Amino acid sequence: MSVRTAAVAAGVLTLVLPLAASLASDPPAAAKPAAAATAAAPASAPAADVKPGARPPQPAPKNLKILPKDWTRSQVVDVMKTWTSDLGVRCQYCHVGQEGQPFSEWDFAADDKDTKRRARDMFQLLDEINHRLGGLSNLHGTGPAPLATCGTCHRGVSRPRRIEDVFEETRATAGMDAAIKQYREMRTESSVSGSYDFSARPLVREAHRRMDAQDGAGAKQILDLTLDLGLDGLMVRMTRVQAAMAQGDQAGALAELDKAAALPLSADEKAFVAEQRAEILKPKQKTP
Ligand code: HEC
Ligand code: HEC
Repeated sequence: MSVRTAAVAAGVLTLVLPLAASLASDPPAAAKPAAAATAAAPASAPAADVKPGARPPQPAPKNLKILPKDWTRSQVVDVMKTWTSDLGVRCQYCHVGQEGQPFSEWDFAADDKDTKRRARDMFQLLDEINHRLGGLSNLHGTGPAPLATCGTCHRGVSRPRRIEDVFEETRATAGMDAAIKQYREMRTESSVSGSYDFSARPLVREAHRRMDAQDGAGAKQILDLTLDLGLDGLMVRMTRVQAAMAQGDQAGALAELDKAAALPLSADEKAFVAEQRAEILKPKQKTP
């Protein structure tokens, strides 16, 4: 399935690219699949698309603005399946219809939903990206030409965001406890899907964002969560040192440095921890 849908998506791009104004330099071969598709199933004869024993003829699409206008319904639906899986949604996310209702009763042509209109903008964005990508030389020798898909950014979710941005949005609107609760739930539910980065790094970035906002207590809560999840490491400990120092807690900072020094560290990392300790212990210069 994924190989086939990827090929379909790639096909779409090859077909649509010649429509772009900037394509004067494209090899004429790129236009051939379009011609073949047209010959096989012209829009005026949608029944050509139906094999003996297959379902009754499907109505031809009537509101295509970005996909080739002469595409059959089944060509369009192949692309739709790729989008649906790349975004982790169902048809209803973009189309007017009810789950469980036969597709013949759905109004796929209607542009009522913002998400459908946004998908068109996204398709154009993707088209531009792939056009630019296609113009770059391949740094890795031969192999398939690099091709971005909806899934390259979306990774199975409709609103692709960094996990720390999801966290921050909830924290700002519903508070720190709600954000932590949501983070824990998402981590349990979706860590295997790869849609989000549940390593320490995003949490450390979020802790820094709290420190920048003079919210030392918030930063500490996020770093406590990080340790509670078993994500101990030099980066986490050094951020805890910074958070303690930001609150004027020198003893706390030194205790974190002890924890850091107890981690399995390389020689360079050990030297770094020692340097930080010397820095903290250095007598502060009196400002006049
Ligand atoms: C992320 C949004 C999105 C999802 C999800 C989606 N579609 Fe679409 N669909 C579109 C867009 C955008 C178009 C119009 C394409 C164009 O303008 O060329 C379209 C067009 C269509 C059309 C042609 C309608 C016409 O008459 O012009 C059909 C049929 C269709 N989709 C079926 C489906 C099915 C079946 C699913 C679920 C498997 C699905 N779509 C999921 C966005 C979506
Ligand atoms: C270059 C990265 C990228 C690519 C490629 C991409 N998207 Fe998006 N998409 C985004 C980002 C970023 C958002 C906005 C997320 C937000 O508002 O939080 C978004 C939002 C959307 C939304 C609105 C979601 C919402 O609820 O606000 C839809 C629908 C969508 N994309 C569909 C698609 C489809 C279909 C494709 C492939 C044709 C695609 N995208 C390709 C990055 C991308």
